[in-house]
Amino acid sequence: MNQNQLKQQVGQKAAELVEDQTIVGLGTGSTVRYLVEALGKRVAEEKLNITGVVTSNATADLAQKCGIKLKSVDEVEQIDMTIDGADEISADFQGIKGGGAALLFEKIVATNSKKNVWIVDQSKLKKQLGAFPLPVEVIPYGSQKIFERFQQAGYQPTFRLTADQQKKKTDSGNFIIDLHLQQIENPQALATKLIQQVGVVEHGLFLNLVNTVIVGTPTGPQVIT
Ligand code: 5RP
Repeated sequence: MNQNQLKQQVGQKAAELVEDQTIVGLGTGSTVRYLVEALGKRVAEEKLNITGVVTSNATADLAQKCGIKLKSVDEVEQIDMTIDGADEISADFQGIKGGGAALLFEKIVATNSKKNVWIVDQSKLKKQLGAFPLPVEVIPYGSQKIFERFQQAGYQPTFRLTADQQKKKTDSGNFIIDLHLQQIENPQALATKLIQQVGVVEHGLFLNLVNTVIVGTPTGPQVIT
Protein backbone atom coordinates (compact mmCIF):
# COMPACT_ATOMS: atom_id res chain seq x y z
CA MET A 1 0.00 0.00 0.00
CA ASN A 2 1.36 3.42 -0.82
CA GLN A 3 1.24 6.46 1.48
CA ASN A 4 -1.89 7.88 -0.12
CA GLN A 5 -3.75 4.61 0.33
CA LEU A 6 -2.77 4.62 4.02
CA LYS A 7 -3.99 8.20 4.35
CA GLN A 8 -7.27 7.24 2.71
CA GLN A 9 -7.62 4.25 5.05
CA VAL A 10 -7.34 6.39 8.21
CA GLY A 11 -9.45 9.24 6.81
CA GLN A 12 -12.28 6.82 6.12
CA LYS A 13 -11.85 5.05 9.47
CA ALA A 14 -12.02 8.35 11.36
CA ALA A 15 -15.19 9.34 9.49
CA GLU A 16 -16.88 6.25 11.00
CA LEU A 17 -16.20 7.59 14.52
CA VAL A 18 -18.25 10.74 13.98
CA GLU A 19 -21.62 10.58 15.69
CA ASP A 20 -24.87 12.19 14.60
CA GLN A 21 -25.74 15.63 16.02
CA THR A 22 -22.14 16.48 16.90
CA ILE A 23 -19.81 19.37 16.24
CA VAL A 24 -16.65 18.18 14.52
CA GLY A 25 -13.38 20.05 14.12
CA LEU A 26 -11.93 19.42 10.69
CA GLY A 27 -8.16 19.70 10.31
CA THR A 28 -6.16 20.44 7.19
CA GLY A 29 -4.04 18.45 4.76
CA SER A 30 -4.10 15.54 2.37
CA THR A 31 -5.17 12.98 5.00
CA VAL A 32 -8.02 15.20 6.19
CA ARG A 33 -9.24 15.48 2.59
CA TYR A 34 -10.14 11.79 2.72
CA LEU A 35 -11.92 12.30 6.02
CA VAL A 36 -13.97 15.22 4.72
CA GLU A 37 -14.95 13.35 1.57
CA ALA A 38 -16.00 10.31 3.60
CA LEU A 39 -17.99 12.51 5.99
CA GLY A 40 -19.69 14.23 3.05
CA LYS A 41 -20.74 10.80 1.81
CA ARG A 42 -22.25 9.96 5.20
CA VAL A 43 -24.09 13.30 5.27
CA ALA A 44 -25.60 12.54 1.86
CA GLU A 45 -26.32 8.83 2.33
CA GLU A 46 -27.17 8.54 6.05
CA LYS A 47 -28.51 12.07 6.54
CA LEU A 48 -25.85 12.49 9.23
CA ASN A 49 -26.48 15.84 10.90
CA ILE A 50 -23.10 17.31 11.85
CA THR A 51 -21.59 20.76 12.03
CA GLY A 52 -18.00 21.23 10.97
CA VAL A 53 -15.55 23.76 12.40
CA VAL A 54 -12.75 24.13 9.89
CA THR A 55 -9.08 25.01 10.37
CA SER A 56 -8.29 26.54 6.97
CA ASN A 57 -9.84 28.09 3.87
CA ALA A 58 -8.86 24.96 1.93
CA THR A 59 -10.82 22.68 4.26
CA ALA A 60 -13.75 25.11 4.27
CA ASP A 61 -13.95 24.97 0.46
CA LEU A 62 -13.82 21.18 0.40
CA ALA A 63 -16.31 20.71 3.26
CA GLN A 64 -18.79 23.03 1.58
CA LYS A 65 -18.46 21.12 -1.69
CA CYS A 66 -19.11 17.91 0.28
CA GLY A 67 -22.32 19.31 1.78
CA ILE A 68 -21.08 19.69 5.37
CA LYS A 69 -22.55 22.68 7.16
CA LEU A 70 -20.01 24.88 8.91
CA LYS A 71 -19.74 27.23 11.86
CA SER A 72 -16.77 29.18 13.17
CA VAL A 73 -15.18 28.25 16.47
CA ASP A 74 -16.70 31.37 18.03
CA GLU A 75 -20.24 30.32 17.06
CA VAL A 76 -20.17 27.01 18.96
CA GLU A 77 -19.98 26.39 22.69
CA GLN A 78 -17.54 23.52 22.37
CA ILE A 79 -16.36 21.13 19.69
CA ASP A 80 -17.12 17.47 20.45
CA MET A 81 -14.19 16.01 18.54
CA THR A 82 -11.53 17.34 16.20
CA ILE A 83 -9.86 15.10 13.63
CA ASP A 84 -6.62 16.30 12.09
CA GLY A 85 -3.45 15.06 10.45
CA ALA A 86 0.08 15.50 11.83
CA ASP A 87 3.61 15.72 10.51
CA GLU A 88 5.31 13.80 13.33
CA ILE A 89 4.06 12.02 16.44
CA SER A 90 6.32 10.77 19.22
CA ALA A 91 5.58 7.68 21.30
CA ASP A 92 4.07 9.86 24.06
CA PHE A 93 1.58 11.47 21.61
CA GLN A 94 3.37 14.82 21.27
CA GLY A 95 3.32 16.20 17.76
CA ILE A 96 4.59 18.57 15.13
CA LYS A 97 1.95 20.11 12.90
CA GLY A 98 1.83 22.93 10.39
CA GLY A 99 3.25 21.31 7.27
CA GLY A 100 0.19 22.76 5.54
CA ALA A 101 0.67 26.17 7.22
CA ALA A 102 -2.61 25.89 9.12
CA LEU A 103 -1.13 25.42 12.60
CA LEU A 104 -2.68 28.52 14.16
CA PHE A 105 -6.31 27.69 13.43
CA GLU A 106 -5.56 24.00 14.00
CA LYS A 107 -4.33 24.73 17.51
CA ILE A 108 -7.25 27.07 18.28
CA VAL A 109 -9.75 24.43 17.17
CA ALA A 110 -7.89 21.62 19.00
CA THR A 111 -7.75 23.51 22.28
CA ASN A 112 -11.51 24.09 22.09
CA SER A 113 -12.31 20.41 21.53
CA LYS A 114 -13.37 17.84 24.11
CA LYS A 115 -11.46 15.19 22.19
CA ASN A 116 -8.67 15.28 19.60
CA VAL A 117 -7.90 12.50 17.14
CA TRP A 118 -4.91 12.47 14.79
CA ILE A 119 -4.96 10.44 11.60
CA VAL A 120 -1.61 9.53 10.07
CA ASP A 121 0.12 6.99 7.90
CA GLN A 122 2.72 4.96 9.76
CA SER A 123 5.65 7.05 8.45
CA LYS A 124 4.63 9.88 10.82
CA LEU A 125 5.39 7.89 13.99
CA LYS A 126 8.82 8.80 15.42
CA LYS A 127 10.88 8.05 18.51
CA GLN A 128 11.71 11.72 18.92
CA LEU A 129 10.34 14.90 17.33
CA GLY A 130 12.44 17.20 15.16
CA ALA A 131 13.37 15.58 11.87
CA PHE A 132 10.39 17.38 10.32
CA PRO A 133 11.04 21.16 10.20
CA LEU A 134 9.15 22.85 13.01
CA PRO A 135 6.90 25.63 11.68
CA VAL A 136 6.64 28.90 13.56
CA GLU A 137 4.00 31.44 12.49
CA VAL A 138 5.19 35.04 12.83
CA ILE A 139 3.65 38.38 12.00
CA PRO A 140 5.34 39.95 8.95
CA TYR A 141 6.42 43.12 10.78
CA GLY A 142 9.76 42.37 12.45
CA SER A 143 9.90 38.85 11.04
CA GLN A 144 13.46 39.34 9.74
CA LYS A 145 14.54 40.17 13.31
CA ILE A 146 12.91 36.99 14.63
CA PHE A 147 14.59 35.06 11.82
CA GLU A 148 17.99 36.43 12.87
CA ARG A 149 17.38 35.54 16.51
CA PHE A 150 16.50 32.00 15.44
CA GLN A 151 19.73 31.87 13.42
CA GLN A 152 21.74 32.98 16.45
CA ALA A 153 20.04 30.33 18.56
CA GLY A 154 21.20 27.68 16.05
CA TYR A 155 17.68 26.77 14.93
CA GLN A 156 18.61 26.73 11.19
CA PRO A 157 15.55 28.77 10.14
CA THR A 158 14.15 29.17 6.63
CA PHE A 159 11.22 31.27 5.54
CA ARG A 160 8.62 29.08 3.87
CA LEU A 161 8.26 30.09 0.23
CA THR A 162 5.58 29.67 -2.40
CA ALA A 163 6.26 28.03 -5.77
CA ASP A 164 7.16 31.46 -7.18
CA GLN A 165 9.65 32.09 -4.34
CA GLN A 166 7.51 34.58 -2.40
CA LYS A 167 7.20 34.32 1.37
CA LYS A 168 4.22 32.05 2.01
CA LYS A 169 1.30 33.78 3.73
CA THR A 170 -0.98 31.86 6.07
CA ASP A 171 -4.77 32.25 6.10
CA SER A 172 -4.18 34.97 8.73
CA GLY A 173 -1.68 36.84 6.54
CA ASN A 174 1.36 35.79 8.57
CA PHE A 175 4.68 34.21 7.54
CA ILE A 176 6.00 30.78 8.42
CA ILE A 177 9.58 30.24 9.56
CA ASP A 178 10.58 26.55 9.53
CA LEU A 179 13.19 25.48 12.07
CA HIS A 180 15.47 22.66 10.93
CA LEU A 181 16.31 21.23 14.33
CA GLN A 182 16.82 17.52 13.51
CA GLN A 183 16.11 16.55 17.14
CA ILE A 184 14.03 18.21 19.84
CA GLU A 185 15.30 17.05 23.22
CA ASN A 186 12.75 18.93 25.33
CA PRO A 187 9.61 19.93 23.35
CA GLN A 188 7.99 21.67 26.32
CA ALA A 189 11.03 23.89 27.00
CA LEU A 190 11.30 24.80 23.32
CA ALA A 191 7.57 25.57 23.10
CA THR A 192 7.86 27.94 26.06
CA LYS A 193 10.89 29.71 24.55
CA LEU A 194 9.25 30.15 21.14
CA ILE A 195 5.94 31.52 22.36
CA GLN A 196 7.74 34.09 24.54
CA GLN A 197 9.29 35.76 21.47
CA VAL A 198 7.43 38.91 20.57
CA GLY A 199 6.04 38.60 17.04
CA VAL A 200 5.63 34.82 17.25
CA VAL A 201 1.94 34.04 16.85
CA GLU A 202 2.12 30.25 17.30
CA HIS A 203 4.40 27.27 16.77
CA GLY A 204 3.79 23.77 15.49
CA LEU A 205 4.50 21.87 18.70
CA PHE A 206 1.17 20.36 19.72
CA LEU A 207 1.77 19.10 23.26
CA ASN A 208 -0.65 17.21 25.49
CA LEU A 209 -3.57 17.79 23.15
CA VAL A 210 -4.37 14.49 21.52
CA ASN A 211 -6.30 11.53 22.98
CA THR A 212 -6.36 9.09 20.09
CA VAL A 213 -4.14 8.38 17.10
CA ILE A 214 -5.31 6.32 14.13
CA VAL A 215 -2.37 4.91 12.21
CA GLY A 216 -2.62 3.58 8.68
CA THR A 217 -0.75 0.30 8.18
CA PRO A 218 -0.73 -2.32 5.42
CA THR A 219 -2.78 -4.59 7.69
CA GLY A 220 -5.44 -1.98 8.41
CA PRO A 221 -5.98 1.07 10.63
CA GLN A 222 -4.72 0.84 14.22
CA VAL A 223 -6.48 2.94 16.82
CA ILE A 224 -4.09 3.87 19.64
CA THR A 225 -5.37 5.57 22.80
C1 5RP B 1 -1.44 21.29 8.22
C2 5RP B 1 -1.05 20.13 9.05
C3 5RP B 1 -1.31 18.78 8.49
O1 5RP B 1 -2.22 18.12 9.31
C4 5RP B 1 -0.04 18.02 8.42
O2 5RP B 1 0.89 18.77 7.65
C5 5RP B 1 -0.23 16.63 7.78
O3 5RP B 1 -0.58 16.78 6.45
P1 5RP B 1 -0.86 15.56 5.48
O4 5RP B 1 -2.09 14.89 5.96
O5 5RP B 1 -1.02 16.21 4.13
O6 5RP B 1 0.35 14.65 5.52
O7 5RP B 1 -0.56 20.24 10.15
O8 5RP B 1 -1.05 22.51 8.80
